[in-house]
Amino acid sequence: MSITVSQKDSVFLLSTNSTSYVFGVDDRGLLRHLYWGGRLPRAEDLEMPVLTEVSTNDPVLEITPEEFPVHGGLRYKEHCLKVMFADGTRELVYRYCGYDIRQTETGEELILHLRDEHYAFLIDLRYTVYPAYDLMERSVTVQNQSEEPVWIEKLHSAQFHIPYENLTFSNVHGHWGAEQQRFVQPVSYGKIVIENRRGISSHNHNPYFVLDRGATETTGQVYFGALRVSGNFSGVVEQTQYGETLVQMGLNDHDWLLELAPGERLEAPGILYGYSASGFETMSHHLHRFARERIMSAGLRPVLYNSWEATEFHVNSRDQIQLAHRAQELGAELFVLDDGWFGERHSTQNGLGDWYVNEGKFPNGLEELIDAVKSLGMKFGIWVEPEMVNPKAQLYQAHPDWIYHYDTRVTDTSRVQYVLNATRPEVREFIYTMLDNLLTRYDIDYIKWDANRPISQTGPQRDVWHKHIRTVYEVVESLKKKHPNVLFEACASGGGRIDYGILGIFDDFWTSDNTDAYDRLYIQDAYSRIYPIKAMRAWVTDCPNFLSGRVIPLKFRFHSAMMGSLGIGCNILKFTPEETELAKEMIRRYKQIRPIIQEGTFYRLENPSCERYFLYEYLKESEGVLFAFLPQSRVGHRGTTVRLRGLEEESVYTVTTEEGEITKSGGYLMRHGLALRLTGDYASTMIRFAKKE
Ligand code: DGJ
Repeated sequence: MSITVSQKDSVFLLSTNSTSYVFGVDDRGLLRHLYWGGRLPRAEDLEMPVLTEVSTNDPVLEITPEEFPVHGGLRYKEHCLKVMFADGTRELVYRYCGYDIRQTETGEELILHLRDEHYAFLIDLRYTVYPAYDLMERSVTVQNQSEEPVWIEKLHSAQFHIPYENLTFSNVHGHWGAEQQRFVQPVSYGKIVIENRRGISSHNHNPYFVLDRGATETTGQVYFGALRVSGNFSGVVEQTQYGETLVQMGLNDHDWLLELAPGERLEAPGILYGYSASGFETMSHHLHRFARERIMSAGLRPVLYNSWEATEFHVNSRDQIQLAHRAQELGAELFVLDDGWFGERHSTQNGLGDWYVNEGKFPNGLEELIDAVKSLGMKFGIWVEPEMVNPKAQLYQAHPDWIYHYDTRVTDTSRVQYVLNATRPEVREFIYTMLDNLLTRYDIDYIKWDANRPISQTGPQRDVWHKHIRTVYEVVESLKKKHPNVLFEACASGGGRIDYGILGIFDDFWTSDNTDAYDRLYIQDAYSRIYPIKAMRAWVTDCPNFLSGRVIPLKFRFHSAMMGSLGIGCNILKFTPEETELAKEMIRRYKQIRPIIQEGTFYRLENPSCERYFLYEYLKESEGVLFAFLPQSRVGHRGTTVRLRGLEEESVYTVTTEEGEITKSGGYLMRHGLALRLTGDYASTMIRFAKKE
């Protein structure tokens, strides 16, 4: 049993295999946090501390670790929920009304029922325990059961209490072309806020928190949580004056107001959370495994070829068929036709919204290309940007009122496009029907769904930030029901929409438009902390790289992209015979190791050298892969030592390097380690190892 209730139904102990989380209801009906950390054996040990105020200026509600603080009373701290009732009352006073425990497919679920003491307003707090994954999940649903509307001014999914000061917070910062730049900062007094206000989750910060106490990959305490949301979110970390650190995360209340009509409910996005006593590696392992097994769609991701960087908007049937032939020769399994195939789409200026095949580019229809791709034995994918329209497009001319705008203001363009108000029923219907027709008429296996600008000028509705992304989720879910074999790739100008919300809706995820193999090492390292490798699409592209201008050997570019779901984005018509042979060989090897990469356990290995080696291991059952990179070496450096992880001590492994084969015990490989020396700039290697029978 992962949920235990004790002391006259007032203390709730939630336990996974190695962690516990405890809260209780006190005699005045207040929900109070009691513990989060390593596993506790019994609920009876926990007592509800008696509340006393520090002084009249530090009221009891201010200093109490509350499980779900609401706005109202002598509370000045961060709250999770703020509402306004129809009579203007802006204070919530809840009563605890009991709980239910349910068995779900993945674990046990506890639902706590709260109700305002005056208004017919319900709050259900949901806790799901996933014991085998060492993770839990919280979310909250509010419901208006009165006869009048209620306005939700703020809804955060949860508050967490960490019983320490001086923690370290980490997340990512960034922008287009430079997503997932990890930062680490000490927590002290005051607040750290991360958020997105642009309608997408993640170029800038990412909706998760990681707080640690001097942790390394393999040691130290780590408290973490990841929010299932792809729109605006906010998170706040605060070291309080009262000896603890608070974290909250949920829907961003910036420009937010949601009206709950009588009878309506609103569910805040769930937040998966966990505790590791053994560093960041354990955190990543728990999140990765849960995401792979319980959130993401099943199956290995194909090796794809995408023609965007090769042809940009200048697509036509003849060139794409030529590219398809070369892609197939190299070993690609899926050919993706990117932007430029539709309407008058010759640049960013026009075409978005006019989703008919451009006859000048495809005089014999899209079928000619699709038939060619299929006859080569590959699957076919196509790019769309369904939430957008260009001002010059026929769609906009016919429906100028379908976009987010104000009648009295000039409407913002960004990348020469407007955002369709997907929350309008007729717009949602248009998007769904357009995609359904495309998938019904053509033999399409893969949709790359892009979104290249932030939302603005949302009109009088201040709930669209949430409702827009819900519509995207719902449209994709309906399309998948009707076209169950189609894979959907989430892309938003690169990695603008990667989070634990989208992970369960789409199948493939574009990590970043930055395809520079060196920059990608940093991006992918940060990404891997939270997101599973199967969700990390990585392409090999041409050099000089279009963003960095860097020239990197093809082998290094392949190794860097083989760290995730491999894709090729080069102009392969220009490959030399040597490049063709190398690409074929790398793709062949990737297919051999693909289950280990996409479904294995991933390790960011320690680099004991003062040279900047990047060392990554993947392990699935008895087989493993290691990638080592050295972007620059100094003359005279002595190499590094690679200490593998996760092996069986006594078993003997065959290790295959570029130099040949050796056999070593698991214990040796993990403790003594392998000596490795790379030389020259942008040096890389792939090493395989397998347990001997
Ligand atoms: C942005 C994406 O991230 C690129 O991969 C490409 O699809 C372009 N949009 C096309 O406009």
